[in-house]
Amino acid sequence: MPQSSTPPAPVSSSSQLDADATDDVDGAQAPNIAPAGEAPARGRQKRPYDDAAVLPPGDTIDARTLVAGEWLELEVGPGRGGFMFERAEAAPRAGIIGLEVRRKWAAIVDGRLIKRGLGNRARVYAEDALHALPRLGPDGSFQRAYLHFPDPWWKKRHTKRLVMGDKFIDEIARLLPQGGELYVQTDVEERAAEYEERLMQSPHFAPAGDVQGSPRMVENPYNARSPREHRAIADGLPVHRMRFTKR
Ligand SMILES: C[S@@+](CC[C@H](N)C(=O)[O-])C[C@H]1O[C@@H](n2cnc3c(N)ncnc32)[C@H](O)[C@@H]1O
Repeated sequence: MPQSSTPPAPVSSSSQLDADATDDVDGAQAPNIAPAGEAPARGRQKRPYDDAAVLPPGDTIDARTLVAGEWLELEVGPGRGGFMFERAEAAPRAGIIGLEVRRKWAAIVDGRLIKRGLGNRARVYAEDALHALPRLGPDGSFQRAYLHFPDPWWKKRHTKRLVMGDKFIDEIARLLPQGGELYVQTDVEERAAEYEERLMQSPHFAPAGDVQGSPRMVENPYNARSPREHRAIADGLPVHRMRFTKR
């Protein structure tokens, strides 16, 4: 993995996403997501977090120019960002990119990373991952991808919002090198079973859990926990963890 150079200054812009008016990162309410690249309505008032960092413009973004690091890791939906902070401490040689659809939390977490002096190697962009992933490259540039407690939507009409789908799987597979890791965890066993089935059927991934032939893991091996993971553990809820490697 080539060494990334010092990243450029933060890219801030007005919206690819609608501003997030709520504090809820758990997504019980589906976020109001505008298509990537959609300009804010003309004449509308500036909204809070309009200046959240977004990815640079263009269809082909070299992820290695965004953060410095000996290798790159990707978190989709970091929410309040706990995993980004803990992982940046645990893996000081890694560069970490977060894509968070909720503009408010993307802006807050990104600002905190910068304030803590981690901004050269850990950034969160206010992006819908399903729009942003196809723009990221080069192929095989991320060593790991994390999806912690995604898809907290249960109504049929929200099915189209689910992150874990064919497009996500194909894009993550493209961005990982052979042997690169996809780690997924949730506290909802039905969801875990769905993810497991999808990924086991994918030609791109092989299970890489505790026991050969299974993706399931008892512990999170990354020395960093997401906020929902901390909460589930504190509440005594089981966490269903899975790891796959790119074939
Ligand atoms: C249940 S929360 C979990 C937050 C965090 N991963 C954790 O474990 O604490 C799901 C997160 O995924 C984000 N999210 C959902 N769909 C997304 C998408 N298409 N692109 C980026 N982030 C997304 C939500 O905004 C929310 O922050």
